[in-house]
Amino acid sequence: MSTRSWFSQRLAPWYRAHGRDLPWRRTRDPYRIWLSEVILQQTRVDQGTAYYERFVEQYPTVADLAAAPEGAVMKLWQGLGYYSRARNLMTAARQVVQEHGGTFPSSFPELLKLKGIGDYTAAAIASIVFDRPEAVVDGNVYRVLARVFGIDTPIDSSEGRKAFRELAYSLLDPKSPGDHNQSVMELGATVCLPRNPACEDCPLSSRCIARKEGRIDRLPVKVGKIKVRDRYFHYLIIRSGERVWLHQRTGKDIWRDLYQPPLIETDGAGNKAQVSRSAKDLLGYQPELVALAGPVRHVLSHQVIQARFWNVVDPRRSTMPEGWFLVGPTELKDHAVPRLIERFLESEHGEDLFS
Ligand code: ADE
Repeated sequence: MSTRSWFSQRLAPWYRAHGRDLPWRRTRDPYRIWLSEVILQQTRVDQGTAYYERFVEQYPTVADLAAAPEGAVMKLWQGLGYYSRARNLMTAARQVVQEHGGTFPSSFPELLKLKGIGDYTAAAIASIVFDRPEAVVDGNVYRVLARVFGIDTPIDSSEGRKAFRELAYSLLDPKSPGDHNQSVMELGATVCLPRNPACEDCPLSSRCIARKEGRIDRLPVKVGKIKVRDRYFHYLIIRSGERVWLHQRTGKDIWRDLYQPPLIETDGAGNKAQVSRSAKDLLGYQPELVALAGPVRHVLSHQVIQARFWNVVDPRRSTMPEGWFLVGPTELKDHAVPRLIERFLESEHGEDLFS
């Protein structure tokens, strides 16, 4: 008798026939699997694939990544957000080299000790690379299980997390845990979509409780909508010949270690006079400003930023405060900047900056 759940028996052949041929599915190198899973926590497969390819091309092994300069890795990560993940990536790579002689540990508890690796990533690596019977639970898995089994326990409650985790473990195919996990995630990513799922293509649809009961739109249930904070950013473009002012962000805010032009944050939307007054701290005088771009809306998971860009008219020659430097167009490309700044630089306004 098979030890596989009905769930896995139906999913496995579907995954073999319909699973996407993705670069990290052609390897069992733990470094590459780890990299792909960390990237995929930040973005979808279509965008993530390009990041993955660039990372493995530039850093083919964990030792290469461990030896990489921090700024270069941040630059490669640029656009994915949550930059602490990029820093953790480097820390974990160094741990693997220093504490494990460059070979990834294979057990779930050992993997968990690596910086930035939580239950999800540890289970993914342990199952996909080392055939360990560990179940992954990510957003896709929650959605598939909530619908197929008709579970309305909120996925963001401790009761829900426990229940879904136990269910995921009970369904796991112990002979093929890696493919099993990937098949559930794949179903969630390609068929059991948040909106308008393609139930006609789903190998589980005949046993799907949400479908039978017409509850697909209501599952999974999530209670606590996270609070979103509004922020108002004003960037100053201060030119000196062909170059502009730049510095590296520090502190416990978003985008730590990324580079940016002078930024003034206002409590409300803010206006030109307010921004000019605040700019005095940095420049020593109140500059004349001309609106360059914005407001631009930039949405993060917990914050919505309204950004405006101001040109400082005829900046006076002042000595730059510590930490600031001037960059021209070529050097600017070597610095990791927030996606918001990158978009500005790519826009017509950004293109005019150095002309
Ligand atoms: N999302 C994150 N990791 C995945 C994987 N290995 N397969 C499918 N979807 C995923």
